[in-house]
Amino acid sequence: MNILIFSDEQQLTEAAVQLILQAYERKPNLVLGLAAGRTPRRLYSDLVRAYQEKKIDFSLVRVFALDEFRGLSPNHPLSFAYYFKENLFNHINLRPENIFLLNGQTEKIDDHCRFYESMILQTGGIDIQILGIGLNGHIGFNEPGSSFGSRTRLQILTPETRANQQALFQAQGEDPPTMALTMGLATILEARNIILLATGEDKAAIISQALEGPITISLPASCLQLHPSVFVFLDELAASQLKRKAFYLYCQEINKREKLPIVIL
Ligand code: GLP
Repeated sequence: MNILIFSDEQQLTEAAVQLILQAYERKPNLVLGLAAGRTPRRLYSDLVRAYQEKKIDFSLVRVFALDEFRGLSPNHPLSFAYYFKENLFNHINLRPENIFLLNGQTEKIDDHCRFYESMILQTGGIDIQILGIGLNGHIGFNEPGSSFGSRTRLQILTPETRANQQALFQAQGEDPPTMALTMGLATILEARNIILLATGEDKAAIISQALEGPITISLPASCLQLHPSVFVFLDELAASQLKRKAFYLYCQEINKREKLPIVIL
């Protein structure tokens, strides 16, 4: 695992964008998996800036959404489809046919999920999957107890995940959805590279458990320990409970000198 620690969110995001740009230089038709949520917002706005500065052209890039709330239309302001439009798609030159979203309103859930998986395969697989982490260790909406063999499917949300969404949905006069569609843990682990982003003190405990604790389905993000090319981008606060923090910083210094690590394509 490449655990990278930065003094603030700006530096963290710049480094993550650099990694994506390096991959893009080598493969202009990059396949990206995209997480929604608070954490990657800045990454997306920095990618928009990179596009405006002509450092990246998205005309051949393909993107797959990681998850979506069950029941929400793509126009619902709290749907992830809407989030991606607002934060990224509306500002760059992705081709509509290269955008793959999970349809929270599909009536044929199994068919839709199987189709989604087949589209990932058809593009040649995800090159870089961007992830955040939930306070209970979920990635995508793979809640604790999700099998490491799980694939894209419908997942019932835990009360704590719904509680975390409560304020946002309440502001719309709604209750948080009870379910979501999500790529499975096996789907995520098949991505060639994974970027995990975490910022803030509230993520410190779960980050240390996920990266340094036992691998268990009780903490879905711990499955990332099994993946050969994970890049974890943390700010100081999110990194504050890591036991081997000094060693990670030492490696980061050496890697910087050697211009490592690089993504697998
Ligand atoms: C959400 C989403 C994930 C997201 C994670 C962290 O519920 N299902 O895709 O990465 O939880 O969210 P945030 O970045 O807002 O803390």
